[in-house]
Amino acid sequence: MRIVLLGAPGSGKGTQTDAIIARHGVSTVATGDLLRAEVAAGTELGQRAKPYMDAGELVPFDIVLGMIENGLKTLAVTNPRGFMMDGFPRDLAQAEALDKLLAKINQPLDLVLFFEVDYEEIVKRLLGRGRADDNEETIRNRLRVFEEKTAPLIEYYTRKGLLRTVRGTGTIEDIGARIHAVLDEIA
Ligand code: AP5
Repeated sequence: MRIVLLGAPGSGKGTQTDAIIARHGVSTVATGDLLRAEVAAGTELGQRAKPYMDAGELVPFDIVLGMIENGLKTLAVTNPRGFMMDGFPRDLAQAEALDKLLAKINQPLDLVLFFEVDYEEIVKRLLGRGRADDNEETIRNRLRVFEEKTAPLIEYYTRKGLLRTVRGTGTIEDIGARIHAVLDEIA
């Protein structure tokens, strides 16, 4: 199973990944987690990415693409159950790059799961979490960036017949059950 989790920041993608992994045995690539690890390790890549992350902007394409290429190559070889991408792609250029990458290894996407949550709920959730980029100004900018750059992917994947929408409000368990209902269809 090869899937993308698509949704605004705070829509609950990361929260649901463990349950998806437990049920379907897929591996995950989360660009935000990979970038935070680079920042924490003080690498050159992390130092380049940090100002963009602090501002809630997308980090430059070349940084993210290199990470995804490495992550995908490893996953495609090591886990026959498939993979799940969280936080990538985030704009049309990234989506097109992903299509090319997956075509090259002959492993096209099966499904893109869109988490639908309204922005006021998101702001409440993220202010309650307190990650470095969870202050009100940065959250609002992350949402603006989502609206402008990432939301067009809803249309992009709808046209490809890959998009499935899941309501991302309610208890974590209820949302998990909605996700499993969709993923069990393609498992
Ligand atoms: P990233 O790490 O991807 O963060 P994000 O997009 O801001 O998303 P979040 O992790 O905040 O949201 P989520 O949907 O995973 O929600 P979560 O489950 O955590 O990216 C961070 C930065 O890295 C970007 O701004 C950018 O700079 C850079 N970056 C990353 N990928 C990039 C890319 N591809 N290209 C360029 N730049 C990139 O939940 C959020 C909170 O809500 C948690 O506290 C959780 O406990 C709570 N919650 C979850 N579900 C529920 C529920 N049902 N009810 C109540 N609370 C809930």
